Amino acid sequence: MHSLDSLFGQRISNMDLLSGLFVVLTLQMVEGAAVKQEASLENSVTLLNHSMALVQRMEALLTLGNGSDVTLRVQTVSTDEVKVIQAHSLVLSLQSDVFDDLLQKRNSSNLVLKEGADCAAVFDKFIRYLYCGDISVRPDQAIPLHRLATKYHIWALQQGLTRYMTQHLVSDSQTGHVVSWYQYAVQIGDLTLRDSCLQYLSWNLSSVLQSAEWCSISDELLLSLLQRSDLVLQSELELYEALEAWISQNQPVDMTAESALRAIRYGMIPPQHLFRIQKQSPLMLKYYESVRDLLFLTFQFHAASPVQLAKYFDVNCSLFMPRNYLSSSWGSPWVINNPTRDDRSFSFQTQLGPSGHDASKRVTWNALFSPRWLPLSVRSSYTEHGSMQSTRTDNGQPRIIITPATSSPDFAGVSFQKTVIVAARQQGKVVVRHVFNFHQSTEETGDFLMDADLQRRTSEYLIDSSLHLHIIVKPIYHSLIITKK
Ligand SMILES: *[C@@H]1O[C@H](CO)[C@@H](O)[C@H](O)[C@H]1NC(C)=O
Ligand SMILES: *[C@@H]1O[C@H](CO)[C@@H](O)[C@H](O)[C@H]1NC(C)=O
Ligand SMILES: *[C@@H]1O[C@H](CO)[C@@H](O)[C@H](O)[C@H]1NC(C)=O
Ligand SMILES: *[C@@H]1O[C@H](CO)[C@@H](O)[C@H](O)[C@H]1NC(C)=O
Ligand SMILES: *[C@@H]1O[C@H](CO)[C@@H](O)[C@H](O)[C@H]1NC(C)=O
Repeated sequence: MHSLDSLFGQRISNMDLLSGLFVVLTLQMVEGAAVKQEASLENSVTLLNHSMALVQRMEALLTLGNGSDVTLRVQTVSTDEVKVIQAHSLVLSLQSDVFDDLLQKRNSSNLVLKEGADCAAVFDKFIRYLYCGDISVRPDQAIPLHRLATKYHIWALQQGLTRYMTQHLVSDSQTGHVVSWYQYAVQIGDLTLRDSCLQYLSWNLSSVLQSAEWCSISDELLLSLLQRSDLVLQSELELYEALEAWISQNQPVDMTAESALRAIRYGMIPPQHLFRIQKQSPLMLKYYESVRDLLFLTFQFHAASPVQLAKYFDVNCSLFMPRNYLSSSWGSPWVINNPTRDDRSFSFQTQLGPSGHDASKRVTWNALFSPRWLPLSVRSSYTEHGSMQSTRTDNGQPRIIITPATSSPDFAGVSFQKTVIVAARQQGKVVVRHVFNFHQSTEETGDFLMDADLQRRTSEYLIDSSLHLHIIVKPIYHSLIITKK
């Protein structure tokens, strides 16, 4: 770093230093005007760019405190710790109307600021941003910095931090931070950040369930996750076991434990596991009475054809609605190498349905991936104008269709909802980026891999030049899930 002496010549008084800065700024503006004029005379303009040096001078101004006219005394709430920063009212007022106001009202050369411990810890960083306009952020610093940016009306920093958080949901550490970011987003009413966190938690739930973060989630977040059908996880049993861990750790009131237990979709758990849960899970033994009706209904569901069940009982509940399970009876991963090259096909098997009556029956599915598929309407217009034929392959959209290899009378009363889970890289980690639901063709979704840009080698959807998909087939028993017309 340049020393101030070498930059401004020796023995410049403190006030000279500040006015020196003004001179530099003013000169740059005059120069800018001159350059513009020159441009209209002849077309060779050279930019002399010394903004890095200016930033370094500003940083030195803050670290050395030369010419400081205000002392910030940052008090940590509920301790007697005080952090002292020599600052310049000109810079603070320029950046923040809140500082401007405080500075105008102050009586002495001190300005006392009270901050929480987390904000006090990053206050230096925050002030440095006001001088230099850049900042390096770690995940654990995002919330206190966002708090400070909000309090002092540094809107660009606030927006930058929100964007940073939505793009850095993946955690390197076992502890994770999405849950605390979610709580913070709820507290400040930032719906975009809240929804990004919620989506990350829902779509990468398996890894969250295994992290230390899982047991730190609040009652509200737990219950709202349990309501969702778009959770991506190994199996419903995995969710039940994670709920056991959460309840034993958090010891919630009975009502919370009961609501959570009633949100488990027991119909999606095979009977052999249900027997074990019913007899051996301490959680189930404690709350058995409050879920007894659901378990009974589930055993009925496993005992005979669901169509039969519906003849005798009026059932309409989420108990029979699958979520996005990654285990093999529900679907299969599909890794497509060099996906833009040509059409690819793939076969896999699933269970006919989760009911004990259907679980041992297999259905074979054929999946077809086309990297550049054109809708019929577009294709016919090309044929009319033969000259446009050559551009055909450039304009198509990726598409997947999934059809059963054979038909069977067993399919009566069941519709097969297909889901394609698309993984992408985020900050070097593989995460679930999209969940597409459709009946037969991804055309139905309208935006399948629309922004994936698979042609680009650096597309974040290409992991070692492959597209990582997971196909799930969700059998829905119509007679048990009545949708409102
Ligand atoms: C001047 O240089 C800095 C850093 O080298 C760069 O970020 C900035 O964009 C440049 N400014 C112009 C006007 O080119
Ligand atoms: C800035 O302050 C430092 C330490 O107080 C001092 O050594 C240095 O001479 C000052 N520089 C200028 C340009 O006033
Ligand atoms: C400034 O001084 C006045 C009167 O001495 C006092 O009432 C007020 O609280 C002081 N303001 C600050 C910000 O210290
Ligand atoms: C996100 O979830 C997917 C599917 O369970 C998994 O493959 C991936 O490793 C997870 N990513 C992270 C960062 O946990
Ligand atoms: C059946 O349950 C689903 C999901 O809980 C709900 O959306 C739907 O409105 C219910 N239908 C009837 C007829 O009650």
